[in-house]
Amino acid sequence: MNLFFLNMEQAKSTFYIKTFGCQMNVADSERMTALLAEQGMAPAEGPGDANLIILNGCTVREKAVHKAVSALGEFELQRKKQGQAKQRLIGVGGCVGQLDRENLFKRAPYVDFVFGTDAIDQLPEILHRVRHGERHVVYADFDSSMNYSTETKVFGFKAQAFVNIMKGCDKFCTYCIVPFTRGREKSRVIDEVVSDIARLVASGVREVTLLGQNVNSFGKGNQNVRVREPQDLHNIIGKVGPKTGEENFPQLLRAIDSDPRCAALRRIRFTSSHPLDFSEELIDCYASPEKGGVARLSPHLHLPVQTGSDRVLQKMGRHHKIGAYIEQMDRLREISPDVGLSTDLIVGFPTETEEDFEATLALLDRIQFDHIFAFAYSVRPGTRAAKIPDDVSAEIKNRRLNQVLQHQLKIAERRYAARVGRVMELLVEGEAKNQNMVHRAQAEGLSGARVWTGRTGCNRVVNFISRVPRNLAGKFISVKITGSSGLSLQGELVIDSGTLGFQEDFERDEVSA
Ligand code: SAM
Ligand code: SF4
Ligand code: F3S
Repeated sequence: MNLFFLNMEQAKSTFYIKTFGCQMNVADSERMTALLAEQGMAPAEGPGDANLIILNGCTVREKAVHKAVSALGEFELQRKKQGQAKQRLIGVGGCVGQLDRENLFKRAPYVDFVFGTDAIDQLPEILHRVRHGERHVVYADFDSSMNYSTETKVFGFKAQAFVNIMKGCDKFCTYCIVPFTRGREKSRVIDEVVSDIARLVASGVREVTLLGQNVNSFGKGNQNVRVREPQDLHNIIGKVGPKTGEENFPQLLRAIDSDPRCAALRRIRFTSSHPLDFSEELIDCYASPEKGGVARLSPHLHLPVQTGSDRVLQKMGRHHKIGAYIEQMDRLREISPDVGLSTDLIVGFPTETEEDFEATLALLDRIQFDHIFAFAYSVRPGTRAAKIPDDVSAEIKNRRLNQVLQHQLKIAERRYAARVGRVMELLVEGEAKNQNMVHRAQAEGLSGARVWTGRTGCNRVVNFISRVPRNLAGKFISVKITGSSGLSLQGELVIDSGTLGFQEDFERDEVSA
């Protein structure tokens, strides 16, 4: 704890963090929140109430950068409106801070400080300097140490936590800015990650999401310090990931799953992986525990494929083939038939023809994903693809984007409809934003109903009605699926129908409440 910097002024001050981007940035914002709370600061409801505003920005596409810039403009407008009445600092972090560094002050001179993705733990030090009158402070050097060692920080009680197991990316896909914003790949060691998770579990965490840009490369360069099972020492498909004798991702999954300190953990998730070194050994982790699988591994896989065309894949520098991807998915489904599959797609990459695009639609038909994240290609200055003329017009990109999303919607509608009638276990994330189901329930005479939202192990979003006057957030409960759309499932808490009770931890909570 940086108690050195704690003073009375900070003890009274509040902060607001606006986050854009992927789970990495979400996890980083959580860490910033915990660090600022350790300094005696309190989270504010909105930017208008805060003495410190941090924009944790993303640069993966041009649109993301625009969002960050316009949010900054709004913060400054508010600061001007309030005059000097409330002394307010504005800082920019995340991938935007890392990439733009001091250039940000040219565009937004009112920004007080900029910090990069490796400088989060220095936030108290940065604030100390800014509060003592320094302006335009920049902390954006990459951590130059060979190893990556950290401890996850969460703010308040949490049932779910993101755990960084590695950072950076060495893949350099031709279109992608991330290797420039997150630096070179480095992994934590297995023993440190397991102890970290054990500590989180002791504090109430029941689901962890292991984070890395490509978790298949986890452990590269980390020598195995323990004797591991022989089946844990191969990486059959892998060409880029760890070699025999180094730690690897399946070993990490098994180490978490078998550690008695993590016994109360219910789900292990991870994101993202790369098809190139998505190993046989990792596929085997999805088997049932009786067949040697990892018991707590959620039956969900997000494996970005980007395009259905081998020709475009090659131009993207992805170094894998569609045929191999299909084989990997077939084998996974054979081992774990109910596994939920999702992917990322880019449409309108330079030179993409109608034929290439049709190949992407055909891949969706072949794989039958549950969910896709699709994006129109956006030129990122400094990447290799930025040198190729961006020859697919904005109009064609948008048309292809809509087409691919509509195509997937139909597939998802069919897949989700097949779940109706089943009872599924959810981890409740909070009350649903859309309370339309409440109005329907009330019309049917169900007074006092609330709509909650949660996720199944296979990562499907389920909105469900409960008449139990309890906060269900963070609880594992069972829900009977009553309806579906292409985006989510709808259901009812099973306790209402009397067929199943609350899950164990909920019962304990009921008794002690
Ligand atoms: N490391 C992960 C991977 O390889 O799948 C995620 C990388 S990135 C944070 C998330 C997604 O953004 C990528 O999978 C890709 O689909 C998309 N993306 C990255 N660069 C892009 C660009 N220049 N234009 C459009 N989409 C992009
Ligand atoms: Fe970007 Fe490719 Fe690395 Fe993913 S694997 S972060 S798409 S360079
Ligand atoms: Fe964006 Fe950085 Fe993530 S560029 S997608 S926040 S790694």
